[in-house]
Amino acid sequence: MTDTTSNKMWGGRFAAGPDAIMEAINASISFDQRMAAQDIAGSRAHAAMLAAQNIITDSDADAIGKGLLTVLSEIEGGTFQFSTTLEDIHMNVEARLKEVIGEPAGRLHTGRSRNDQVATDFKLWVRDQFDAAESGLLALIQALLGQAEAGADWVMPGFTHLQTAQPVTWGHHMMAYVEMFGRDLSRMRDARARMNESPLGAAALAGTSFPIDRDMTAHALGFDRPSANSLDAVSDRDFALEFLGAASICAMHLSRFAEELVIWSSAQFRFVTLSDRFSTGSSIMPQKKNPDAAELIRAKIGRIMGANVALMMVMKGLPLAYSKDMQEDKEQVFDAADNLMLALAAMEGMVKDMSANRDSLAAAAGSGFSTATDLADWLVRVLGLPFRDAHHITGSLVALAEKNGCDLPDLTLDQMKTAHDGITADVFDVLGVENSVNSRMSYGGTAPAQVRAQVARWKGIVG
Ligand code: ARG
Repeated sequence: MTDTTSNKMWGGRFAAGPDAIMEAINASISFDQRMAAQDIAGSRAHAAMLAAQNIITDSDADAIGKGLLTVLSEIEGGTFQFSTTLEDIHMNVEARLKEVIGEPAGRLHTGRSRNDQVATDFKLWVRDQFDAAESGLLALIQALLGQAEAGADWVMPGFTHLQTAQPVTWGHHMMAYVEMFGRDLSRMRDARARMNESPLGAAALAGTSFPIDRDMTAHALGFDRPSANSLDAVSDRDFALEFLGAASICAMHLSRFAEELVIWSSAQFRFVTLSDRFSTGSSIMPQKKNPDAAELIRAKIGRIMGANVALMMVMKGLPLAYSKDMQEDKEQVFDAADNLMLALAAMEGMVKDMSANRDSLAAAAGSGFSTATDLADWLVRVLGLPFRDAHHITGSLVALAEKNGCDLPDLTLDQMKTAHDGITADVFDVLGVENSVNSRMSYGGTAPAQVRAQVARWKGIVG
C-alpha cells in the first residue's frame, strides 16, 4: 500500500509532504486554472483514444469522459475548490475526477505525462489567442478602411522628423496603418499555421510503449498533425514566443498610432477630435479632455515586449527536454494576450469614433512650405533643370518666403523670377496642396485615386 496521506501526489516515493515554501514556489494552479477547458478537452480526447486502441475499456473511457464534463461544469460554475497542494490544473482536475467517478479516473494518465499534457493545453490556449488577435486586427482594419474611404482626398501635412514634409491625404495616412496591421494579421496567421501540431502522446519525453494513436488525438483537438519528435514536443515553447513576437510588433504599431493620436488631438494640432467615450477629463482643470485610452495603448508595448523578453530568457539555455523553468511561461503570455486584445479593441473603438478636423488638416497642409518639392519638380519637368539645381533654387525661394513671413504660393511672379527668370505663372498650379496630392499618382502614392484603389484592394482581402 502506498502512503497517500503524507504526500498527496507522490506518496509512493516521498515519505514527507513538501515544505510550505516549496509548495508556494512549486504550485501553478493560481494561474494555470485558466487552461481548465483546454486541459479537459485534451483529457477527453486522450481517454477516447485509449479506448479506441483497447488500452482502457469503453466503459472506463465513458465514465472518464462524462466525469470530466462534470468537473468542467463545476469549474465554469465557480464551485470547484482549487487546491495548491495539488500543484496545477492537471492534478486538480484528475483528483476531482477521482472523487466524482472513482477508480477509472486512475486509468486516464496511461501513456501520457504532464509534460505533453501541459504543452498540449498551452498550445490550445495560445492557438485561441492567435484567433482572437486575428479577429481584433480584422475589426481594426475595417475601422481604418472606413476612415480612409471617407477622407481619401482630405489634405493634411505629411511629416518626416515631425517637420512638415509634403502634403498627403488623410486616407493615405490611415492606409499606412492598414498595411502595418495587415502584416500583423499575416504574422499571426503564419505562426498559427506553424504551431498547429499536437504534442499529446509525446508523454514525458520519449514517447510511450502503449499503442496510442497520436493522429486520432491530434485530429480530435483540431491540430493538423502530431509533432514528429517527442523530445521537441515537450520542450518547445516557440509557439508562445512567436505569439509574443507577433504581439510585440503589433503592440509597437498600436503604440505609434496611439502617439500620433495623442499629438493630433492636442490643442496645438487639432487634427482629430476623439470621442468622449474614449477620453477622460481632469479632476482639477475643467477644460481638459485627455486621450487616456491612446496613452494606455501607447504604453502596452512595455508589458507585451517585456513578456517576450522574459520568456526568451526563461527558455535560453534549457537542456532538453522539459524543465520546471517552463512553468514560468504562462503568466507572461496570459498577461500579454489580455492586454493585446484590450489594446486592439480600444484602438478599434477610438478609430471608429474619432473625427478628423478637415479644416485644420487643410490649413496645416498648406503651411510650412509643404509644396517646395512640387516647385523643384516643376523646375525639372518644365524648365529641364537638373534636380540638384532645382533644389537649390527652391531653397532660395523658401528662404525668401520665410524672410517675408509668407508661404510659397504667396510670393509674386517677379519674386519667383529673381531665383530663375524662366519661371512662369504656371508654377502656381503646383503650389496648391490639392494639386500636389493629386499629382502623386505613382503606385502607392498619396493621390486620392491611389488611396481609393488601395481601399478597394484591402476590402477585397478582408471582406
Ligand atoms: N505545472 C507544470 C507546468 O506548468 C506542469 C508540468 C509539470 N511537469 C513536471 N514534470 N513537473 O509546466
